[in-house]
Amino acid sequence: MIRSPLMTVMVDAVMKAAKGLRRDFGEIENLQVSRKGPGDFVSQADLKAEAILQDSLLKARPDFGFVMEEGGIVEGKDASHRWHIDPLDGTLNFLHGMPHFSVSLGLEREGQIVAGVVYDPIKDELFIAEKGKGAFLNNRRLRVSGRTDLMECMIGTGIPSSARRDLPTYMKEMAHVTARTAGVRRLGSAALDLSYVAAGRLDGFWETGLSSWDIAAGIILVREAGGFVSDGTGGEYKMSGNSILVANTSVHGQLVQALKEARAS
Ligand code: IPD
Ligand code: CA
Ligand code: CA
Repeated sequence: MIRSPLMTVMVDAVMKAAKGLRRDFGEIENLQVSRKGPGDFVSQADLKAEAILQDSLLKARPDFGFVMEEGGIVEGKDASHRWHIDPLDGTLNFLHGMPHFSVSLGLEREGQIVAGVVYDPIKDELFIAEKGKGAFLNNRRLRVSGRTDLMECMIGTGIPSSARRDLPTYMKEMAHVTARTAGVRRLGSAALDLSYVAAGRLDGFWETGLSSWDIAAGIILVREAGGFVSDGTGGEYKMSGNSILVANTSVHGQLVQALKEARAS
């Protein structure tokens, strides 16, 4: 597979940031036992990774804007292009020494996500997609799963924190989806959840309250792997919206229905 110049820029930036994260993750076990815990160290790792990403992207595409989890919005001279950056998706996993987290980088062009890279530095899995060019995992073409019966599906999700007002509604959704599928997984990195749907490891995924940097890259991965992306009710997905639901096209409707029944219960 020959990478486009744009994809080369994106992968290089992500790999550079991931190198630091992998090194920092190696320190986490030692910090687990200290009373203060690894909190500050992880925040530093997160900030360092974001700075590396911003720096390399600025060098390669000086006019593009940024939407970053830590640094916020930075307008670029070129108003039609914006990077969406999550330097460390799966912070809680990272903090607890759980080897499941990622770097996520998406590119928006005129309001549409056109390219995405998600990298898991521990498993060395690189998920990439560009509009019209397909989705790949370490150079292997990706397709969403072929399952057609929701009862056989494994579905990913994210659980809202206890402080969130929508937690009780979510618990109903979780109960309904659990009863209608083979199983539900809360893996802890939304960017990887979406990548796993693209790879056919998960048959679908839903979550509310995510931000553009969590899912920009994952959205294009799912679409380019043949999956369907909507909001949580099955309606048109909007970046400014609050919910996302993705699945292969056969079970998407069944998952929408299960969630609808949950909310009405
Ligand atoms: C979080 C992860 C998690 C999702 C949360 C996100 P962070 O991102 O993607 O899977 O459930 O809603 O905030 O904080 O680790 O970058
Ligand atoms: Ca995130
Ligand atoms: Ca993050």
